[in-house]
Amino acid sequence: MPASDPAPAAAAAAYDRTAELRALDATLSGVRGLVASGATHPPPHLPQRQPPEATAPSSAATTTTTVPVIDISGSRAAVVDAVRRAAAEWGFFQVTGHGVPLAAMDAAAGAARAFHESGGGEGSDKARLYSREPGRAVKYHCNFDLYQSPVANWRDTLYLRMAPDPPPAADLPEICRDALFEYAKQVKNLGNTLFELLSEGLGLKPSYLTDIECNQGQIILCHYYPPCPQPELAIGTSRHSDSGFLTILLQDDIGGLQILHEDRWVDVTPTPGAFIVNVADLLQLISNDNYKSVEHRVVAKNTEPRVSIACFFSTHFHPISTRMYGPIKELLSDENPPLYREALVRDYTARYYSVGLDGKFKTTLSEFRL
Ligand code: OGA
Ligand code: NI
Repeated sequence: MPASDPAPAAAAAAYDRTAELRALDATLSGVRGLVASGATHPPPHLPQRQPPEATAPSSAATTTTTVPVIDISGSRAAVVDAVRRAAAEWGFFQVTGHGVPLAAMDAAAGAARAFHESGGGEGSDKARLYSREPGRAVKYHCNFDLYQSPVANWRDTLYLRMAPDPPPAADLPEICRDALFEYAKQVKNLGNTLFELLSEGLGLKPSYLTDIECNQGQIILCHYYPPCPQPELAIGTSRHSDSGFLTILLQDDIGGLQILHEDRWVDVTPTPGAFIVNVADLLQLISNDNYKSVEHRVVAKNTEPRVSIACFFSTHFHPISTRMYGPIKELLSDENPPLYREALVRDYTARYYSVGLDGKFKTTLSEFRL
């Protein structure tokens, strides 16, 4: 071995970091626990300076363009056209006129906040639920990919797999149970409406995407981003695209979500009462690139805690889902050959999760490209 070989030093550093991550894990109370215990700077093992490729192309967000806001209570033809264009050109849009009561949105965000701001420690819901087990329907953790990703995120998450097979109510923390069951029901209905609009936007019958069960899986992620003492050293959520079919996101008024549009980071400005909707990888795959799954991230801030609730329409690892998903046959022709091979949702998800949100941008989707 040459004397200059850096491997032993690198191995020692990697070992130390793992030990530090394990120590954080053992607190069972995430990044919020660190902040609550008075951390004045991000511990060196947790947030890392973003690798240059993760902040490229430009760390400054542009405010001159904004994602489309669509009032989906408007005339059907106009709404279908606006949704189709937004899904094709932006991959992201905000919706108003969606019919979900503001009270249900506020109650869900408040419930998510209350859970995250509740105490950890012995006998707490946080301790009971702390897990990264893929098969577990209800769990809480700090970074699902803490040990895979080189960049730990300044974020904790309550994970609820609400469909298929909703969990027994008693498995949810009491502090957020009722509000999140109600929220899941409301967002499921909105998802069905959006799948109809997206089907029509592809020139298919309205029930097409729900007939092929794109709406069957529903995973609710309640994220909490504590204020970060040195936000320039941390990231709330690393750059990634979502793995499922569609995501409906509720964010509070703090801001920080950015999407990559025409090679620039664009802020998704908080819009009271609106939901953010984005195309995820599997919808790009089955739409044969008609709709785009776009990368996004959340920057860390040193202001107030930020709460968001993401609803993924995806069956993820669920074993009952045996359907193969490939480019929709009706969209294919000699001029439009299939761009992807078929996949089971769980195989796609397993591949996606094995990579982690580590800035290997959209690797999973490109692996399924023909
Ligand atoms: C996600 C995500 C953004 C946010 O959960 O995939 O991108 O604002 N969340 O929390
Ligand atoms: Ni996302």
